[in-house]
Amino acid sequence: MTRRILVLPGDGIGPEITAQAVRVLEACQKLGLDAEIEQSLVGGSAYDVHGVPLPDETLDKARNADAILLGAVGGPKWDRIEDLSKRPEKGLLGLRKELGLFGNLRPAILYPQLADASSLKPEIVSGLDIMIVRELTGGIYFGQPRGIEERDGQRVGFNTYVYSESEIERIGRVAFEMARKRNKKLCSVDKANVLEVTILWREVMDRLAAEYPDVELSHMYVDNAAMQLVRAPKQFDVVVTGNMFGDILSDAAAMLTGSIGMLPSASLNERGQGMYEPCHGSAPDIAGQNLANPLATILSVAMMLRYSLNEPQLAERIEAAVGKVLDDGLRTADIASEGKRRVSTVEMGDAVLAALS
Ligand code: NAI
Ligand code: MG
Repeated sequence: MTRRILVLPGDGIGPEITAQAVRVLEACQKLGLDAEIEQSLVGGSAYDVHGVPLPDETLDKARNADAILLGAVGGPKWDRIEDLSKRPEKGLLGLRKELGLFGNLRPAILYPQLADASSLKPEIVSGLDIMIVRELTGGIYFGQPRGIEERDGQRVGFNTYVYSESEIERIGRVAFEMARKRNKKLCSVDKANVLEVTILWREVMDRLAAEYPDVELSHMYVDNAAMQLVRAPKQFDVVVTGNMFGDILSDAAAMLTGSIGMLPSASLNERGQGMYEPCHGSAPDIAGQNLANPLATILSVAMMLRYSLNEPQLAERIEAAVGKVLDDGLRTADIASEGKRRVSTVEMGDAVLAALS
């Protein structure tokens, strides 16, 4: 069956990095991937043409796709749009919400070739391979009521932290299944000493644990988890947490690996449909200069092949090709180090393609 892949380059470096990832997808087509690739607009570039960051046409195509590859959205050009609903970021949030992409997978893997890029000592991070599973469509980022209003003569800002049992259970299942496929160790991160929402979270995780007796479940408070991630990150394998804690912890974990230019992500819904994107943004400071590291986006293609297209062998080939170019000493500016060969975005794409075939 021919699968449909929608590519949304977006803004800033988005078009440059997705162009390299599309070359990798085309190489996979030659290696047997039965898929058609389409492109559409999202973010500021969609706003410029259609006046909205998520045009109906893009949303329709996204709904019909088996998988979506997104570059990044946003940039100073659109920062002055006053209507918040028309900002580029709304294109991304809209896609996540409309497609129900609640399960965010953010691996933090330290490539041994880049051990010197980490901010931590090599012995603490070498071999690091963590998977953070973050709930993406609920929690305090979406809870109602929210706002800023006048109360007793001063302004107060408020948000609502809410998770239903079913929301907790479905992200819990994603995490337990992930742990089952990996090292059978799952750490659930909450703040159950203070927040009722996470008392419920902990209860639901404990209940699920009975269904996954092969997985060892532990619980950790988020403040301790932040400390442990920096102290001894290799104690973790799969981590599951809510939207806000996951946002913060996954960025912290990302930096253990040295460069945000290396980190892919997946966001899945209940049908296994997924959106795949690098963890970084549109990097306006280097956009249009052929400097950006395309590897996070290329590794996002590998995740797509693994989690939405059921092509784990192609995923492994891409990951091996990335390992090979790093072994060969090729480095874009963000991962540059002495004695290694500096390459451009396109040259990095060329090298991955060569390693693939
Ligand atoms: P950013 O991730 O775009 O850039 C942070 C720093 O990392 C910059 O110095 C940039 O040059 C560098 N960098 C990022 N990706 C790189 C790559 N592939 N290769 C080499 N260097 C890379 O984050 P920033 O500066 O906070 O945001 C810039 C714009 O991106 C903003 O408009 C922001 O709203 C948007 N953004 C979009 C995201 C998305 O589309 N998922 C996520 C984060 C930010
Ligand atoms: Mg973030």
